[in-house]
Amino acid sequence: IYLGIDIGTSGTKTIAMAEDGSILADASASYGVSHPKPLWSEQDPELWWKATIKTVKKVVQLAKAKPEDVKGIGLSGQMHGSVFLDKNDEVIRPALLWNDQRTVAECEEIESRAGGRAKLIKMVANPALTGFTAPKVLWLRNNEPKNFARLAKVLLPKDEIRRRLTGEYATEVSDASGMLLLDVAKRDWSLDLLSKLELDRDLLGKVYESEDVTGTLTKKAARQLGLTTECVVVGGAGDCAANALGNGVVKKGILASSLGTSGVMFVHSDEMAADPKGRLHTFCHAVRGKWHMMGVTLCAAGTLEWFVQKLCSDMKGPKGKVDPYTTLMKEAASVPAGSEGLMVLPYLAGERTPHADPDARGCFIGVTLKHERAHVTRAIMEGVTYSLRESLEVLNEMNIPVRQVRAGGGGAKSPLWRQMQSDVFGKKVVTLNAEQGPAYGVALLAATGAGAYKNIQEACAATIREVSETTPDRTAKKYYDRAFPVYQDLYRSLKDDFK
Ligand code: XUL
Repeated sequence: IYLGIDIGTSGTKTIAMAEDGSILADASASYGVSHPKPLWSEQDPELWWKATIKTVKKVVQLAKAKPEDVKGIGLSGQMHGSVFLDKNDEVIRPALLWNDQRTVAECEEIESRAGGRAKLIKMVANPALTGFTAPKVLWLRNNEPKNFARLAKVLLPKDEIRRRLTGEYATEVSDASGMLLLDVAKRDWSLDLLSKLELDRDLLGKVYESEDVTGTLTKKAARQLGLTTECVVVGGAGDCAANALGNGVVKKGILASSLGTSGVMFVHSDEMAADPKGRLHTFCHAVRGKWHMMGVTLCAAGTLEWFVQKLCSDMKGPKGKVDPYTTLMKEAASVPAGSEGLMVLPYLAGERTPHADPDARGCFIGVTLKHERAHVTRAIMEGVTYSLRESLEVLNEMNIPVRQVRAGGGGAKSPLWRQMQSDVFGKKVVTLNAEQGPAYGVALLAATGAGAYKNIQEACAATIREVSETTPDRTAKKYYDRAFPVYQDLYRSLKDDFK
């Protein structure tokens, strides 16, 4: 048995997988995000550890497994978050998360220390974006010098869990890419940039390939989880790369679209190709020696979640249960494509791809007396889907082929949202038997690292198959093709007013 653990933003999900890829059990534990100031986003790493223990114990029990049955663990998690540890491994302050926007000044500082944006992209394949980890470290140095003086290690969320499990300070190439400190071409830390930023190499852990074994459980961790010290922990992957593995995106031509809190458009690439304008991220893939490119919408299904939590909180679901999504989706399906002129820019947390604009804001445009809740729901879904199409446009511009879209994440459970993706992208959209996303991807890595498969490509080929297919509706596609440039123009017209 192999476990996949995904340290998400709204909760941790763990699955137990048999060697043939079948899922034996899954369990989740949720937690909150704190926003001490607007656009700040923090979490206490202790929440992740408690959720890890709880969900691991639960899946082992549900799978009726004996401790020695669990041969390997794969870790996945929200990317970019900064776990600041002192020399005694005490967490210094809550971690700053991927959607925290406080580091605008530090991004400028990084570009200037690097000798300009183009030179930075040459060193680490990406521009400085507020969500990435390096700006967070500089923020600590600039704003909390006492905390910075105590800093001994900076770990990513899943790598903090690895430290608790194995005692090792380690990471792997896919997640490390999002720190903005990795030489993505060489797949190791950029000593050049570290020295320009006056950051010590010892702040960082050892970098592995994703399927490599990084350690085994310590006695203490084995006791806490009810497992054995024989159990290996492999590198794993950042949640985007892990999700791509869970969707079998291990070769060219397939794109994984994920609609979670954030929205991600992800393609595999055999060579390293950086977007010179820095709109798409170029990171190492969790496939040995390969890369990937991706675009990120910061508030994707997160926009719908905001609408439900803040504006529909008194709404009851079908059987009096508070699950308003079924009702909302049904309502939205009754509204024609285009939401009768209502358009939403889903920039509630600023936006990354393609604008890299922390000042961007959510907008509802074209509201009339005719519009009802159903239109608002549908317009949110459409706005989010347009924002994902922006990434597809950049891929087109870079001549990166996309033959098929594989939809995942909570949003892909909705047939309406899958059809909308197919119509807005003008592509075939499929879903797979592996619905478990990142946790499944890293369980496959664990099985590979423990020797059950030759490599991750073989593991994906043996376990993943298509279960549904959606093709574009001609009328809706035509409408969306005309509306998309209007959506793009709205941001251009408004962007100066966001400041
Ligand atoms: C990716 C990103 C988000 C988080 C969400 O660059 O910031 O998708 O990984 O978990």
